Amino acid sequence: MALTGLFLILFLVVHCYVNAQIFWNDGGKQFNEAAHFMGTNVVIRITEIGLFAFLILHIVQGLMLWAKNRSRRSVKYAVTPGNKVSPWYSRSMALLGTLVLLFLIVHLSQFWAPNRFSQTTGNGELDLYARMKETFSMPWVVAVYLLGCFALAWHLVHGFYSAFQTMGLAKHNYKKMIKCVGVAFAIIVPIIFALMPICFYTGCLN
Ligand code: HEM
Repeated sequence: MALTGLFLILFLVVHCYVNAQIFWNDGGKQFNEAAHFMGTNVVIRITEIGLFAFLILHIVQGLMLWAKNRSRRSVKYAVTPGNKVSPWYSRSMALLGTLVLLFLIVHLSQFWAPNRFSQTTGNGELDLYARMKETFSMPWVVAVYLLGCFALAWHLVHGFYSAFQTMGLAKHNYKKMIKCVGVAFAIIVPIIFALMPICFYTGCLN
């Protein structure tokens, strides 16, 4: 889980960086160029297969872990210690992950699938910037994206540190630093993602 999780974290960095090109507010010129490169580069297209394989593996491993943890305790605790022993988000990783997955199903059907399978424009690619503008004009879509980013943030607060800990990289002297970097990452990246639908919806980007 740690390895697949770290790969997905790396993907988020690249995805966030490419998408952040929309903030140049140049009508999508820089963003569409970057998206075109990502969509046509052979190495990146092959990596995309790995990405989906890792995503599925991460989900399957997470569900198996959740099922195993549940089956280990047939009799419920008489007293649930709650946040005193572990924070709520670390006990809700399966729920948060499921929310991110639901968001991803909506997200991929809106952007990735049409871009790969319905080639409508002259050069065989969608104008992804125009598509974002159109998609993020609908309030329910903006709400789904904000919820998705919120769930992602909490999933990452625990997931980032947990991945390093599982791999034995969160040694005593680095523990605090990895925790801080993880929390910063879990706040900054989802906020940048969340700003994308917000900026289109409020007309800051056009
Ligand atoms: C909220 C702002 C976001 C925007 C505007 C956005 C935009 C896009 C676009 C335009 C694509 C299609 C790229 C292509 O077909 O080449 C895409 C693909 C994808 N997005 Fe997002 N995305 C956002 C957030 C996220 C988040 C938070 C995740 C993960 C939790 C995510 C995961 C993915 C995945 C897995 C793909 C398909 C992989 C690929 O294209 O290589 N996205 N996104």
